Amino acid sequence: MIDRETVLANLERYDLGKATVGMVGSHSALDACDGAVAEGFRTLAVCQVGREKTFTHYFKAHRDASGKVYRGVVDETMVLDRFAEVMDPKIQKKLMDRNVLFIPNRSFVSYSGIDAVENDFQVPIVGSRNLLRSEERGDERDYYWILEKAGLPYPRKVERPEDIDRLTIIKVHHKVKKLERGFFTAQSHEQFLEKSQDLIRQGVIEKDFLKDARMEEYIIGPVFNLDFFYSPLEEKGSKIELLGIDWRFESSLDGYCRLPGKQQVELEEDGILPEYTVCGHNSATLRESLLENAFALAEKYVSATQKHYGPGIIGPFCLQTCVDKDLKFHIYDVAPRIGGGTNVHMAVGHPYGNALWRREMSTGRRLSMEIRRALEQERIEELIT
Ligand SMILES: Nc1ncnc2c1ncn2[C@@H]1O[C@H](COP(=O)(O)OP(=O)(O)O)[C@@H](O)[C@H]1O
Ligand SMILES: [Mg+2]
Repeated sequence: MIDRETVLANLERYDLGKATVGMVGSHSALDACDGAVAEGFRTLAVCQVGREKTFTHYFKAHRDASGKVYRGVVDETMVLDRFAEVMDPKIQKKLMDRNVLFIPNRSFVSYSGIDAVENDFQVPIVGSRNLLRSEERGDERDYYWILEKAGLPYPRKVERPEDIDRLTIIKVHHKVKKLERGFFTAQSHEQFLEKSQDLIRQGVIEKDFLKDARMEEYIIGPVFNLDFFYSPLEEKGSKIELLGIDWRFESSLDGYCRLPGKQQVELEEDGILPEYTVCGHNSATLRESLLENAFALAEKYVSATQKHYGPGIIGPFCLQTCVDKDLKFHIYDVAPRIGGGTNVHMAVGHPYGNALWRREMSTGRRLSMEIRRALEQERIEELIT
């Protein structure tokens, strides 16, 4: 892990009056850019050839003579052959010459690899660099380990396929769409064998998928991805904020669910199983009596990260939960960074974020608001790793 001193030394050389909010152009980049513009920053997206137009063209920022944005949210782009080239020292230097404060999103880590993010990326990151590894499911101290340490509820792990005795989700990487999911469900060992054979035959999962698989109890209930924010700077109010709640559209699961039950069964008999590739987001709220329980989860998570992953979480994080029939939360995934579903409240904010801050407050905006406050209070190094 690159030491914080090295990164802070790079930050020393910045002209912070010209701080630019940068990120990999993918995932939640539009929300981060929109929020940065709303808070008065310039923005820079690192793009990949072939998927850059969203940033270089369609959402390109146009400013008037006074510098006020009247259209779009992305001031500058760097279009690379591959996202991973963001690790190239020359590119890193360019970013630092532009005074970029870098927002780590999931695309950044997925395309560059966690080792490079930890060891090679010298650009100041807004957030907790060391926690990013906890997302690598199967690592020794992954998010399940943190949840265990924190005493937080997560779905019961199933060790071996032979042990499947109730509805179980098998989390596997997709064979072809490398960064996507090849998830499936089974309620018995027999069904596990049947379905996995179908998926191997269809080229959805690898033959030896089991070696990296996570199997756990399937929680029957709605999904609530809780988009929280932890502010190291806040001194009067709560340091933990609930900004929004999202849930995802997944293909082909959502199409499957909109068919009559009989056709779902027929499809399954033909070996056509739903896939879980995220392709959109929606917004939700919680019944009020559950809100305090949601905050309790966040309080425990934050404490555990401070204890075991110092300095602990900084800024946005997302606890991805299902709520069961007894209204209990189960956390099945944790993003220790800006969540993947925050575009749902981009620019318009979210009932919770807006109610708290008395104006439109998306995750992207909250992030940049924290940066702005840190700069005003000369505490920016508290947000940087
Ligand atoms: N234990 C579980 N019970 C019910 N649904 C789950 C469970 N784990 C994951 N899911 C579903 O799978 C999807 C993604 O799971 P997640 O663990 O977040 O994968 P990823 O790391 O790819 O984001 C979500 O739609 C969620 O509803
Ligand atoms: Mg997830």
